[in-house]
Amino acid sequence: MSLIDREHELFLPTYKRLPIVVERAEGMYVYAADGTRYLDFLGGIAVNSVGHSHPRVIEAIETQLRRYMHVSNYFYQDAQIAFAEKLSAMTGYHKVFLTNSGTEATEGAMKLARAFGSAEGRQRIFGFTGGFHGRTYGALSIMDKPRYKDGMGPFLPETGVLPFNDVQALRDAMSHDVCAIVVEFLQGEGGVRWATQEFADAIAELREQYGFLLIGDEIQAGAGRTGDFFGFERFGIVPDIVTMAKAVGGGLPLGAILVSERLSHVWGSGQHGTTFGGNAVACAAGSAVLDLLSEGLMDHARMMGAVLLSELIGLQAEFPALVTQVRGAGAMAGMELSIPAGPLVDALLDRGIIANATSDTVIRLVPPLTFQQEHVAEVIGALRAVLADAAGN
Ligand SMILES: Cc1ncc(COP(=O)(O)O)c(C=O)c1O
Repeated sequence: MSLIDREHELFLPTYKRLPIVVERAEGMYVYAADGTRYLDFLGGIAVNSVGHSHPRVIEAIETQLRRYMHVSNYFYQDAQIAFAEKLSAMTGYHKVFLTNSGTEATEGAMKLARAFGSAEGRQRIFGFTGGFHGRTYGALSIMDKPRYKDGMGPFLPETGVLPFNDVQALRDAMSHDVCAIVVEFLQGEGGVRWATQEFADAIAELREQYGFLLIGDEIQAGAGRTGDFFGFERFGIVPDIVTMAKAVGGGLPLGAILVSERLSHVWGSGQHGTTFGGNAVACAAGSAVLDLLSEGLMDHARMMGAVLLSELIGLQAEFPALVTQVRGAGAMAGMELSIPAGPLVDALLDRGIIANATSDTVIRLVPPLTFQQEHVAEVIGALRAVLADAAGN
């Protein structure tokens, strides 16, 4: 039986996997067991920000592995503390809680917000259409996509989903019962869609007026991906709580809830916890990632992102009937099509490029932040070819 058949036999069929059996991955490339080399513009779904198998990340992991892997959060651990110090220095946030994943960061942030709001009887938490916050019940409760939710209710009480970038709908939904809103200022799964400045301004104004907490979900767009450390930075707004995961662990499972000073003392001993969150090996990898970001990788992503976007805009001009919009920043780009994106993504794979489709009609590119001019040329050449094929059909 082939490896693929064995997988089909053993696993719940929740993933539509690419037809690739991976042998190894290095830098910008994934190598299949059959010897094929793929240029990786998916980056482990926006995880491998420093490229696959970065020597600094491997070294940090190896050093920590030899000391110990896991002792539990009963202990003080220098790897955790070093990571938290770097995160705090780079973001200005006051305190941190470390998680294993993005959805766990979302759940923790929602719990913390409710714990803070409980003194005033605030419970209601809103998310926004197109937002993606994870697969657990809190996260799903503030998401609108039926495919992720059908048949799995009921969801959390006192939650809801408002239309993204709709200032009036936000104003209409506002009351002093609102505990928090969770905003992905650059939506990833939702199709690489930015919040508008008007929407961000309205959030800031209403937060002042109503006193709710703003939770920024930076799980995908954060950790330097856009060329800023956080996607929300360009809006001049500072969330009260920020959630992170994905790239921040350098390929190991690690996430974080960052909180501003006034939320520092909401939780006491035992009010939240996790066995594995903040694992020492993951934190060592995370520290190496943060070092690389502050040593110039973020600037590189900003610069190369401008190159990528301008090339994508060039393709839009070449194929105006097919490419309706290009969005993003840094190592996060979306190309909105007038046709389903899935077949084009399959065609890209046939040409040795790994990308994916989000939001049905968007080709999403989230490469490692280490991508170079030659990789842009390769991906743009392949995109041009598959768009030309699609135009001919
Ligand atoms: C913005 C955002 N939030 C939350 C999540 C959930 O993260 P995880 O899959 O680690 O639970 C994701 C995952 O794609 C995401 O993109």
